[in-house]
Amino acid sequence: MNTILVGAQWGDEGKGKIIDVLTEQADIVVRTQGGNNAGHTVYIGPKKYVLHLIPSGILRPGKVCVVGNGVVIDPVSLVGELDGLEKLGVGVTPENLQISETAHVVFPWHRELDAQREVRKGHGRIGTTKRGIGPTYGDKAARVGLRVIDLINEARFTERLRERWKENNDVLQALGAPAVDYDALHREYTAAAARLRPFVTNTVVYLHHSTQRGLNILFEGAQGTFLDIDHGTYPYVTSSNTTAGGACTGSGVPPNRMDRVVGVMKAYTTRVGEGPLPTEDAGISDLLHALGREFGATTGRPRRCGWFDAVVTRHAAMVNGIDELAITNTDGLDTVPVIKVCVGYKVGDQVLRHIPSDIEVFARCVPVYEEFPGWQSPTDGARRWEDLPVNCRHYLLSIAQMTGARLTIASVGPAREQTMLL
Ligand code: GDP
Ligand code: IMO
Ligand code: MG
Repeated sequence: MNTILVGAQWGDEGKGKIIDVLTEQADIVVRTQGGNNAGHTVYIGPKKYVLHLIPSGILRPGKVCVVGNGVVIDPVSLVGELDGLEKLGVGVTPENLQISETAHVVFPWHRELDAQREVRKGHGRIGTTKRGIGPTYGDKAARVGLRVIDLINEARFTERLRERWKENNDVLQALGAPAVDYDALHREYTAAAARLRPFVTNTVVYLHHSTQRGLNILFEGAQGTFLDIDHGTYPYVTSSNTTAGGACTGSGVPPNRMDRVVGVMKAYTTRVGEGPLPTEDAGISDLLHALGREFGATTGRPRRCGWFDAVVTRHAAMVNGIDELAITNTDGLDTVPVIKVCVGYKVGDQVLRHIPSDIEVFARCVPVYEEFPGWQSPTDGARRWEDLPVNCRHYLLSIAQMTGARLTIASVGPAREQTMLL
């Protein structure tokens, strides 16, 4: 069984936690897009792990993790992540981690350009993670990027790096940004390359053989549907295909080998960074932040919070082909007396039942709400579906039905055991 897992909102839906749960039934876990802009949190007992580039499956012994061709890799940051995992007692070897030789490499000028563009945009900024993701995918599309296979070939890397360094320093200079020192860069990247070389392989062929052997593959989505470069709230998006199709292009596993798509969504909505969020609500933001929740796992920024938006998740079900839903953070609504769900948008005197393509129209959308009675009791102790209050079960089933997919997982806390499989 090959499963694609995607975020059905704006990222941070709790994918890391659900991946960890689903990894139990998988042999291989694959990241297929994005880079270290992602932050996936997994709790195992008292220990907290935040994964950025390495698939969350790495925390389960005996599973193979793959960083696919569609991912962009900051080699220095990846080495830091490997070291961090070692410190936490997680063994990472070429036996349990494989890195695609055709993934593109992030350089310091990508990060600097990312930052420069944000400053120049001023109020229109995207609110990126400043990890250089956009400029790296830009170079990939412009066919001037360097790939992992170039990085690990020392002679070729030295030659191509100088060429890329020169061009990018000219651009940085024109923007008035600090130049990158060639020698320091070369030293740092060749050291990272030496460390990563044993992990680098042809992951496309490996995954092909694995599907032929009938192994179970889990495709770990990063970001969320509305950060997708094609289907998201452009330009307030990331630079990769975060939707289900990205799992195929980003791994080389074809669509007819995929068996199901699982969508992960929160029982409410969050977004980090700029861009429209029709159901944003100061009350629910304050409530969650006061509980110490909803701060970004990568940048630490407070996430913007709002009511559940069923127009958004229905769109996500459409473009991803979501079969099954995992709803997380149910417990975040435990104290709310009346819970609102957006079922349409008012624009002028029109009511829309879908997301408008025009971002300026989307920014003007006023939610049309349906109200649900809250359950006003703690759910974090629930272990079986029957343990949940009636109002809570009704709410979860209703938002799943509005989204248009089957509810199969309900989560009431960050821990593994706070997960109900329906
Ligand atoms: P991801 O990027 O989709 O993997 O999500 P993040 O890890 O960035 O953010 C989700 C946050 O919610 C993390 O801190 C998780 O530990 C936490 N989380 C996931 N599911 C639940 C849940 O059901 N209840 C609570 N309280 N926290 C959850
Ligand atoms: P996970 O995998 C939430 C957001 C940024 C910004 C926009 C573009 O943890 O769900 P980028 O640095 O990618 O160019 O930023 O996308 N963003 C995320 N928001 N979760 C993420 O990943 C995100 N990765 C990027 O905040 O709005
Ligand atoms: Mg996250």
